[in-house]
Amino acid sequence: MSAAQPDTLVAVRIGNAGGVVVGIGQNEMFIASDIPAILEYTRKLVFLESRQMAVVTRAGYFVQTLDKTPVDAAIHEIAWDAVSAARGEYRHFMQKEIFEQGRSLTDTIRGRIDFESGCVTLPDVPLTPEEALRLKRLVTVACGTSAYSGLVGKFLIEKLARIPVEVDYGSEYRYRDPILDSDCAVLAITQSGETVDTLAAMEEAREKGARLWSIVNAIGSQAMRTANGYITMQAGPEIGVASTKAFTASVVDQYLLGLYLGQLRGTLSQAENVEHASALAKLPDLVGKVLDQAPKVAALARKLFHYSDFLYLGRGINYPIALEGALKLKEISYIHAEGYPAGEMKHGPIALIDESMPVLAIAIKDSVYDKMISQIEQAKARRGVVIAIATEGDEFIATKADHVLYVPDVPPLLSPILTVIPLQLLAYYIAVERGCDVDQPRNLAKSVTVE
Ligand code: AGP
Repeated sequence: MSAAQPDTLVAVRIGNAGGVVVGIGQNEMFIASDIPAILEYTRKLVFLESRQMAVVTRAGYFVQTLDKTPVDAAIHEIAWDAVSAARGEYRHFMQKEIFEQGRSLTDTIRGRIDFESGCVTLPDVPLTPEEALRLKRLVTVACGTSAYSGLVGKFLIEKLARIPVEVDYGSEYRYRDPILDSDCAVLAITQSGETVDTLAAMEEAREKGARLWSIVNAIGSQAMRTANGYITMQAGPEIGVASTKAFTASVVDQYLLGLYLGQLRGTLSQAENVEHASALAKLPDLVGKVLDQAPKVAALARKLFHYSDFLYLGRGINYPIALEGALKLKEISYIHAEGYPAGEMKHGPIALIDESMPVLAIAIKDSVYDKMISQIEQAKARRGVVIAIATEGDEFIATKADHVLYVPDVPPLLSPILTVIPLQLLAYYIAVERGCDVDQPRNLAKSVTVE
């Protein structure tokens, strides 16, 4: 801004980390670092690339490079609207977003899978069977909840497509001189598409010649535009700082990516494809069933909200859900919570357990069920209060744990999408009981666009 030209704003973008969005209104213009900030005012957006500048006045704008070459920047129309971003009947956006998950997953799956043949189409991730077979490794880079989604995705993609997957935090990846080449694909997962650490990790991958994909919720975001291929989450705007529906949508996207790669690489039989497709088709209804238990979770929250430390335990594909459950609780209720792989309990955390430390154990009927039961027994032997997330119909576990929240029986690969929901609800209701600002927790921002 300059006092000499009070009606003009100049916005410049340097580098590929933070974004600059120009919003075109009627007789008004906007500049922001992320789309949701201006969505209430306009859905017509222009995105600057590195070393471009926008000169904006009330009446319009033009874009040019820093050396003054004019740029014909495309105008993107964003489909989200302010109405679908409104809170409606809900007290908080986070609550609304948790309850939207049946619908959001329907949208995530819709049009991408043929339920008769099981065939998955991801037109924005162009890949030939030869290229898919050449892929030696997939590296997922993300932060926070998106990184935990990536940890679930590791199980999915390795199982379905038989490609080794490694997962790293965006903030760590670029500082470890990663080994990459053109036979590697790097997958960035980001709700906002503007998280600077994730964007920097993508930049690192591009420089090293890897194939670059992204899973994003914010259409038109930097992570979507700079990748060679992308999959949208289709979750709709997520306003609550604590991410919920973007987590489940991005896990489903990785399920679809695993099937897609598996089909191109020939690691899945026709019958398996159909089985996976039919399991996915049932998922949104089952999510609805878990959400029906919200009053039970709210009642449990009233019993637990005064504790100051929680331990979350899970194994296998549900270990990342222990991490995510603990993250949700600490973010919005300011309660100290740790997520651990249950088998590690005896290597340290068990020392913490007594009657003042509730233990959340994800113990569904899968191949590690017996092991989880033995962890629950150990926690009980140390007077811990145990809350189990268990499979519907498992009455035995009720004789072991103090409280049980049930989820429907699904194939183990899909179980994290159901087991995370009671943990999202529990964090939400505990935060409400403690009078916390659920949607705007202290010290946190929705998009972390600075390092
Ligand atoms: C989630 O509840 C957090 N607020 C945070 O960890 C978030 O997931 C992280 O900042 C990554 O954001 P992104 O998905 O927009 O990249």
